This record gives sequence, C-alpha cells and structure tokens, in this order.
Amino acid sequence: MNARLSPEAAAMSNARLDMLNRLRRRKPATALERDFYTKQEDYQIDLDLIWYRDWLFVGHDCEVLNPGQFLTVQVGEYPVIVVRDRDGGVRAFHNSCRHRGSRICPEEHGTSARLVCPYHQWTYALDGRLLAARDMGPTFDKSQYGLKPVHCESVGGYIFICVAKVAPDFEPVRRQLEPYFLPHALHETKVAYECTIVENANWKLVWENNRECYHCAGNHPELIRTFPEDPTITGVDGGFSVPAIAAKWAYWNSKGLPSEFKISADGQYRTVRYPLLEGMTSYTMDGQAAVSRPLATQATEKDTGTLLLFHFPTTWNHVLADHAVTFRMLPLSPTTTQLTTKWLVHKDAVEGRDYDLKRLTEVWMATNDEDRRVCQENQIGVNSPVYEPAPYSEIQEGGVTQFVDWYCTHLEERLLADAE
Ligand code: FES
Ligand SMILES: [Fe+2]
Repeated sequence: MNARLSPEAAAMSNARLDMLNRLRRRKPATALERDFYTKQEDYQIDLDLIWYRDWLFVGHDCEVLNPGQFLTVQVGEYPVIVVRDRDGGVRAFHNSCRHRGSRICPEEHGTSARLVCPYHQWTYALDGRLLAARDMGPTFDKSQYGLKPVHCESVGGYIFICVAKVAPDFEPVRRQLEPYFLPHALHETKVAYECTIVENANWKLVWENNRECYHCAGNHPELIRTFPEDPTITGVDGGFSVPAIAAKWAYWNSKGLPSEFKISADGQYRTVRYPLLEGMTSYTMDGQAAVSRPLATQATEKDTGTLLLFHFPTTWNHVLADHAVTFRMLPLSPTTTQLTTKWLVHKDAVEGRDYDLKRLTEVWMATNDEDRRVCQENQIGVNSPVYEPAPYSEIQEGGVTQFVDWYCTHLEERLLADAE
C-alpha cells in the first residue's frame, strides 16, 4: 500500500481491496460470504459507500406537517434533524451545533419555533440560519455558523435525505413513485401507531429476509391469512405473465391507480400493486379493513390490493385502501439493525370509532417479531466459522438474488470510482 497513507487509511484501503476481491469471486445467485455480515471493516464500507451516499427514507410529510415540527434520525455517525420551515418546505440539517458540536435536538419528534442548542443556547431559525449566539464578541460573524444542510426531498408523502456532499439525482425516484403514491394521499394521513425494534442481525440479512416469502408458511401464521406466499409477489419477474394479476392491474389502472410492476434500471427501487388473497383487502386477522375511514377521501375502491415499494437500503412499504404500513431500517452495528414501523391512517380517523389499534397493528406486530427472531437466528448461524454461502432458491428467492446483486454491483462501482 501507499506508504504515505495513515495506518487507518491504509487499513481501510486493504479492507476495500479485500471486499472487492470477495465481490468479484462471488458465485451468481449465491449468498454472501460471512465477513459481509459480521466484520466491522465491511460494515464501515457499507456505511461509507451506501448509507452515507444514497437517498434514505426517514419519515413522512404528515409527521412534520406544521412549521417547526421536526423529526430526528441517526444515520450511522450522523445525527440529522428534519424540519418543516416557515414557507412550508421540508428541510434537513446535521443535528450538530456549530458552536462546540452538541446535538441540538435529542427528541425523536417535536415542535419548536426555533432550534435552540441546549448546551449554550445558540439559536437557529428553521431555515438553519444562526440567529443568536450570546457573548461571542464583536468580531463574531453569525452568518458563517448556520446549521449544515442535508439534502432533503419529499415525494408522495415520503421524506428522503442524503448526507453525501453531492447527492444522486432524485428526479428519477420522484418520477417513478409519484404516480403510484399520490392517489393514496399519504400527506393527508397521521401515524396511528409507531414501533421501533432492534434486530440482532446485519442489515443485509434483514433485507434478504424481507425479499422472500419462502419463510412465510413456517413463520408467519398471521400474515399468510391475507398475504400471498406466491414467489411472484416478492420476486422481480413482475407477474406480467400471471393472468389474474394482469387482470387486476388493468382494472386498477382504469380506476386511476397505477399498478404495474416497475423497477429502476439499477434495481434500487421497485413499485407494484398486487392483490391480497381472494376476498382479503387488509392486513388484519380476518382480512377485512381495519379502518372504516379510507386512507384517501376520494378513493371509492374498497380493494386496492397492496401497493408495494422498496427502496434500498432503508424502506419497504405496504399501502392498502384503509391504511398503510411503512418500514424504516437503519444500521446500528455490523450485527444490529433498527427497524421502525409506522401505521398510517386518514388524518381524521379516530381511534375507538374508526379503528381499533390492536386490530390495526396485530398482524405486523407479530410478523415483525417473527422476522426479528428468524433474522437473529440467521445471524447466529452465519457467525459460525463453518458457515459457507449456498445457492438461493431459483423459484422462491429471486427477490433475494436481486437485492444481493444490487448490493454487490453498487458497492463494486463505488469502490472502483473511489479508487480512481
Ligand atoms: S454547543 Fe451548542 S451552544 Fe454550545
Ligand atoms: Fe418475514
């Protein structure tokens, strides 16, 4: 390695080279080697090249509806605050005071007319300008110490951020998501319930589990009452050749609900609407609506199937006629991942009158817990020195292959670009 590099930088370069070699010797449609799921150096590369460079879903417009309403999120080492400004825009800033660096907002949610650092009360406007800094002397120039901005975009009720200096183009994401999500009016919703769990598993194992339903029959008795185990649904062949799905798409399209399977050229995000099992319209124990008030006021269809979105690396989603369930994944360490689930209902739906919270949440609360258990057991087994990568099922695990292909291609491109 280059002798002028610091020991840390040289070590990182070795780590990157090592990863590149492993990416290149990977067999197609086969699980990753153990280090990808366990090693601190690999985790740091995941953070540096994916989590710190890509667009990440962090929350919903409805959570920061009014000026001063904010939510905070921790992306690896970066604390970030997302806030509605006075002009109605959504902005994101590094949640780190420009004085001595203190985190400004420790709360996950809140409302504040100004952002005041609790340490020495430096005070920032909702647009990030430093308004007040006590006793800093006559030469201190406040204009140089505004909060550092984070790229922030909102589409169809979903807020995305990117902590990179230069963010990837967001417009293709907007173009794809908007037509699918606008009819469901997610900006007219509220969070009926939110739950955060920590899974003792690498973030990629959590995704791999999400991208197949091979495990559903054996692990998800609640979910499979309504969710089809058909590998078409989790796979990436689309379902164009399945007549029942094609007929539903044609019907929903005619009702102004875009439905056809669509995946981005690089495989990072996919939108599609699929029918639930025959006669089922919602993720409840009896398959009927959990909320009497539809999600979108103008919606007349009782059965809009489930509108699915995944966007690597943070989110997968199910939007139904009566409610939506959204998921946000954030990595905490090589072997721990935080998963936040939110149940969205129409903003005027009233608990106890329009919905019962237990009925609304019980299927996915149980499913999350079951997935947490399988992912944790997966991690424990992968930690074993005898673990070796085996092929994914061609029939059942097409979605897993697609995720791992995206991950490997994406990383390899970025490793090579950085080395130039
Ligand atoms: S660190 Fe924020 S005011 Fe001092
Ligand atoms: Fe699952």
